[in-house]
This record gives sequence, structure tokens and C-alpha cells, in this order.
Amino acid sequence: MAYTPFLVERWMSAHEQRARFNLGESGVQPLRLGELLALAEAAGRTGARRELDELVLTYDETPGTLELRRRVAALYGIEPEEVLITQGAIEANYLLFRALVEPGDAVVSMFPAYQQLYSAAAMAGAEVRLWRLRPEDGFVPDLRALERLLDRRVRLIVINTPHNPTGTVLDEAALRTILAWAEDIDALVLCDEAYHGIVHGGGTVPPAARTLSPRAVSVSTLSKTMGLAGLRIGWLAATRPIVERCWGYRDYVTISVSRLSDALACLALDLRPQLLERARAIVARNLAQIEVWMERHAGDFEWVAPRGGIVCFPRLRRTADSEAFCRGLMEQEGVLLVPGSAFEMPDRVRIGMGEDPGVVASGLERVSRYLAGKG
Ligand SMILES: Cc1ncc(COP(=O)(O)O)c(C=O)c1O
Repeated sequence: MAYTPFLVERWMSAHEQRARFNLGESGVQPLRLGELLALAEAAGRTGARRELDELVLTYDETPGTLELRRRVAALYGIEPEEVLITQGAIEANYLLFRALVEPGDAVVSMFPAYQQLYSAAAMAGAEVRLWRLRPEDGFVPDLRALERLLDRRVRLIVINTPHNPTGTVLDEAALRTILAWAEDIDALVLCDEAYHGIVHGGGTVPPAARTLSPRAVSVSTLSKTMGLAGLRIGWLAATRPIVERCWGYRDYVTISVSRLSDALACLALDLRPQLLERARAIVARNLAQIEVWMERHAGDFEWVAPRGGIVCFPRLRRTADSEAFCRGLMEQEGVLLVPGSAFEMPDRVRIGMGEDPGVVASGLERVSRYLAGKG
């Protein structure tokens, strides 16, 4: 089957390197390698740099080293054999669609969404049913609307929480309801948890889906909250048979992740509490300044407060052409946002809340100037 262009990835690839103020990115400010090593040393891992010098750059166990799978498995209270280390969450999702969906199956996916979560299902031959998050509900997921989409043809229910791009969050009760419905129809739940751990305003962080049921596959990554997208390390936490199937397909594509990234990922997971704290602090400062800025610009934007994650998705009041808006903003002010057209909702923009708060403040000032110029 022909591929469907992945709009948000192409937008970012075209503009990201030229942006002076990158408010398009969905992860927190990336760490330098030296910063990661310095953090490790400060946390008592004094031999971290020397261990890297000694690292043999060969193949290793292809599902990911046991050291890394152990660390990931511990996050879910499962066995290392129930984890597959992947090239980012994106490879995990892709392998899951490849391994779990047969042509003719139905897949239910949230919409709007990170496009992979419905397009890759369609590319695997599935009939995709969209569970729409409606702006008029403030993007709060309507469980009854999901229930109406479910029947025994549904093989996979695909959810993403905290959600890209709306910032909505499924709480534990909602996750349990979805898992119970999946049980009723013998489906699986793919829960993309790339932004797990970030809930705004002191709200409770819901448990990862795989901790609630073996029907759930949790997918996550070091790219977003850990600020380590360049390592290209993600994973899926599932059951052994699902891991086996995904691993079987992966043998044909990338064999394994990079040995160097695997070693650095072990260090990063040992530092997870500190890195998560760093992410929460950056995002909280940015959200606070974006909220104040949105009040100032109530005539330009309809603000939908995100409940979690690292992005928000306000509506443009003065134009429905977000792509022209974002191109102009990039050309005139060097500020990168993501047009809602990349999420098939062209009257919105996605604003990232992970950049350095000083850069976000300057970027927002430039957006104000751009808006003033448009009268
Ligand atoms: C919901 C979601 N899943 C997966 C990914 C891919 O992330 P990774 O860098 O881990 O491949 C992204 C990236 O934006 C995302 O937003």
C-alpha cells in the first residue's frame, strides 16, 4: 500500500534547523552529551565517562541489552522479556501495527493525533475508525463515543495520553474502562505514553497502561520528557508473545538500536527522577507564561488549557489558514510553530512548551509583533 505523507514530521524537518525560536518541538530542551554525563557523575556514577571509553561498539542482544530492558521493565513491574527496545516510540508503534493488525481488522484511533497513530494503521490495511476529540468539549475524551465505535472486528484501540496535540489526559478510571471494553471484544490497547509523567497543576499522574493489564501495550521514549531525542531510544512494554512478534519484524529492518544509545539510555533511566523533575519545571514555567500571554491575546486565540504533556493546541481566531500563518511567522520572525493543518485541523497551531523558558518568552514576544503587523 502507498504511504500517506507524515505531515508533522515533514513540517518539522523542513523548518526546524532554521528556526531561531523553536516553539514547534514537542520534547523538552535537549541535553548535551556532556550534560548527561555530568549529571551521572554528580549522582555518583563517577566512572560513567570511562565506561563509555571502554564500550565495544559491536552488535549486542537485538531486543536491547538486558541491562536496559531490566530498567524499562522495572517501570512497569514486568519481566525484561516483556520489553522491546526500539528506535524511538515511532518504531515501537510501527512494529505494533505491523505485527498486530491484519488487513480487514478494524482499529480505533484518537483524532486529532500524532498522525502515525492512525495513518500507519491504515497502511497496515486496517479499517480505521476515528475516536474524535471535539473542540466544543475542550478536547475531553468522550468515552461513550468510543464505546459506539467498538465491536468484535476491532483488534486494536489506539490511545495517546497525555495527548499530542491537545494536551488532554486520560485518567486511571478512563484507562480501566477502555481496558475492560477491550477485554469484552478481545482487542488490545496500544497506549502511546511518550509524554507520560507530565500532568499540569499538580494533578495525579495516571498509571502507565501496561501496569493495569496485559491487554495494554505501553509505548514510551526518552525523546520527550527526558530531552534525549537524539539517542533515538524508545520501547514497547507488552506480553512475551507480542514482544516476540514485533522483534521478529524488527530483525528485518534495523536489527537493533545503537549500542552507544543503549548504554546512554541506561544512564538516563538511572537519572529518570532528576530528568523528569527538570522537564516538569521547564514545562510548568512555560505553561505559566503561555497562559498569561494567551490572556493578552484573547482576541487572537481561543485557548484550550492543556491538562498534561508538552504541547498545547489553541485556535486562531483571525484566520483558518494556519499554514500560511506559520510560514509567515517563520519568515518574518524566525519563530517555529506547527500549523494545525499538520493535524488536519487547519484553524489551530501547536505550541511546544519544552524549550528554554527564555527562548519561549522571546518567541512569544515575536509572535505578538507578527500579530500586531497583521492588524
Ligand atoms: C505521541 C507521539 N508518539 C511518538 C512520537 C515519536 O517519538 P520518538 O522520538 O520516540 O520516536 C512522537 C513524537 O512527536 C509523539 O508525539
